[in-house]
Amino acid sequence: MSALRLGDIAPDFEAVTQEGPISFHKWMGDSWTMLMSHPADYTPVCTTELGAVARYKPEFDKRNVKLIAVSCDPVESHNGWIGDINETQKCTVNFPIIADPERKVARLYGMIGYHDDMPKDKQPNPALTVRCVFIIDPTKTVRLILVYPASCGRNFDEIIRVIDSLQITTYKKCTTPANWKPGDDVIISPAVKDEEAKTLFGDFTKLKPYLRLTKDPSLPK
Ligand code: BEZ
Repeated sequence: MSALRLGDIAPDFEAVTQEGPISFHKWMGDSWTMLMSHPADYTPVCTTELGAVARYKPEFDKRNVKLIAVSCDPVESHNGWIGDINETQKCTVNFPIIADPERKVARLYGMIGYHDDMPKDKQPNPALTVRCVFIIDPTKTVRLILVYPASCGRNFDEIIRVIDSLQITTYKKCTTPANWKPGDDVIISPAVKDEEAKTLFGDFTKLKPYLRLTKDPSLPK
């Protein structure tokens, strides 16, 4: 299994989805992307997760983030299950789900893992994907990797919060403090000297030479 790390180039691949075949990097274009795996179609937590992502799609669109899911199930299974997701989660699944029965994408991204809902000696065989999230930027660089246990549905508010932080810190010379949310003060990067900080951000509060806070630069001045 590959051990992808933050800063690596996201591996390219060809795959089949319920929306047709894709070539991953070409499909991404100049967008950010959330690539997420789930353990299996027709399972309860996964049904709520993909429903949540479909309902949040306008939030991802606003941030120029394309969505793509993957599991080891075939396209026919995705097509049938999407009907259940739409019905029970009051949504329309409007993003591709990769069918990866050969586990090509799953292995490339290291998505196969331990299922905490089953005893160690009764793990699925062949092994399945766990709940992974990869946020990839427009340069195809991996910027966030999350792995959640099979038993716990992901928090997509938190994932959107990290995307907001990644986007602000990529485009401005700042970082974001604990529990930050858009609109809260940001931290001026330690590499930025006070004079440059004044030019870039205007007023700032210097609690320590290494801890300087300023208004969220995405707010109107
Ligand atoms: C679920 O989606 O509910 C689930 C799937 C695989 C393992 C455990 C839970």
